[in-house]
Amino acid sequence: MRQSSLVVVANRLPLDDSAAPDGACEWRRSPGGLASALHAILEQTPATWVGWAGGVGPAPTLPDIGSLRIRPIALSEAELRGYYEGFANSTLWPLYHDAVEQPVFDRGWWETYQAVNRRFAEAAAEVAEPQAAVWVQDYHLQLVPQMLRELRPDLLIGFFLHVPFPPPELFTQLPRRVELLRGMLGADLVGFQRPQAAHNIAQLATRLLGAQATDDTILLDGRTVRTGAFPVSIDVAEMQALARRPDVVSQAEQLRIRLGRPRRVLLSVDRLDYTKGIEHRLTAYSELLRDGRVQVHDSVVVQVAVPSRERVDSYKVLRDRIEGEVGRINGEYGRVGEPAIHYLNQPFDRAELAALYQTADVMVVTPLRDGMNLVAKEYVAARADGSGALVLSEFAGAAAELEDAFLVNPHDVDGLKDTLLQAMDASPADLKRRMAAMREHLRNHDILAWARAYLTELDHTGRLAERLPTPPPGQPPRTRPARPVPRQRTVARRRPRA
Ligand code: ADP
Ligand code: F6P
Repeated sequence: MRQSSLVVVANRLPLDDSAAPDGACEWRRSPGGLASALHAILEQTPATWVGWAGGVGPAPTLPDIGSLRIRPIALSEAELRGYYEGFANSTLWPLYHDAVEQPVFDRGWWETYQAVNRRFAEAAAEVAEPQAAVWVQDYHLQLVPQMLRELRPDLLIGFFLHVPFPPPELFTQLPRRVELLRGMLGADLVGFQRPQAAHNIAQLATRLLGAQATDDTILLDGRTVRTGAFPVSIDVAEMQALARRPDVVSQAEQLRIRLGRPRRVLLSVDRLDYTKGIEHRLTAYSELLRDGRVQVHDSVVVQVAVPSRERVDSYKVLRDRIEGEVGRINGEYGRVGEPAIHYLNQPFDRAELAALYQTADVMVVTPLRDGMNLVAKEYVAARADGSGALVLSEFAGAAAELEDAFLVNPHDVDGLKDTLLQAMDASPADLKRRMAAMREHLRNHDILAWARAYLTELDHTGRLAERLPTPPPGQPPRTRPARPVPRQRTVARRRPRA
């Protein structure tokens, strides 16, 4: 096995197998924030990506993607259930998202989560050169940093959590809280989306492990672990280039015609997930129709809900509820040839997404809780002419950066209705001003800036960041986190309490 000096370890590879139109197996880019973000930088960087290709049974043989080598990890049916669908997506995912859905604590899943984490750690140890940097991603692999440190103490180990990291009141519900915390803290640098998360882990390390901690340093077992906020972003240049492509522009025009040339197109693009607030949004829209504040011939809603985690019970139930509600709203308010909601439960390629973003006068992104939400950033990047309104939940990480969006509390349905109308009726001058400010922010905070900031913090010599693709002309290379992180709030040392 060839070795690399940079290894990324993430549950999912950036490729999904899907059936081509002729029925053959075709690999396409996986939906989901993590794959979108990392794929953009790693395609052009000599590195190895260790991850799962979807499906069960022996790992497939996958070609390199540009200069990126792929090291697939096999999962059995039982592992898929216990590790991915169980511990990762039925315990950690809901708990880390404010427990908006009840987390399931099934004791049987823990063994499998540990075993699969060990498999990822062993694969990473195998493909990492001496003194290489290994960058572990997300809640699926929280035990990998410590396991890897035991296997390969020579490595520089980074961990980045793409989802929110909860406050102690929620985290301490976890029966395996000590092991999970120690697992993450096996890294040299633990990165989060928001500064609050770094504060939460400092409190937890103090309370549960008796560590000495500030909001950017944790002293544990004689080792220093650094923590900080590095808000993830998108490949802005890619989305801007797509949005300018003549075929995408004409696809957007066609879409608008097919939608009946309404005055306003409202668009939402989500994984079909209970954290995304899809039901709250449908309720708000349906009430606007009921109250006569919007009419179907005038405003059209397009809801893209890409299938996700389809075998997990809570996701099946959610899909049934959403599809029932879309049916009810269309039945009640639609007219022949004029549905109130165009509902699409399917994946799209990047060009199709860019065309959809261009068609949307109002982009509605209203998760109940979201680590970042890259869809909001993609919309802003795609609005080449500076028009368009972004309605954005206060509870998405992106809200801290896209402050000129129409910010909203998605739990407040009346507030959501008013904000939707405000965005639909805003003056072109107001929209241009808001969009210009958000586009300016994104120009300086793209995916490269994120990776550069994280890797420079991981390795102060700059050796890692230098290997990333060069930034587009006119954009200075960033070497610090994109947003200042509050420093040095000391958390008092306490006795460990497991
Ligand atoms: P999450 O990480 O929870 O999936 P994000 O909004 O951060 O949420 O990221 C979602 C990513 O998945 C975006 O890059 C988006 O373009 C992509 N995506 C969403 N819906 C689809 C779809 N129907 N087809 C293809 N990609 C999608
Ligand atoms: O961003 C959170 C995340 O869990 C990513 O790790 C993942 O790529 C994305 O959501 C999609 O989820 P899944 O890999 O379960 O389809």
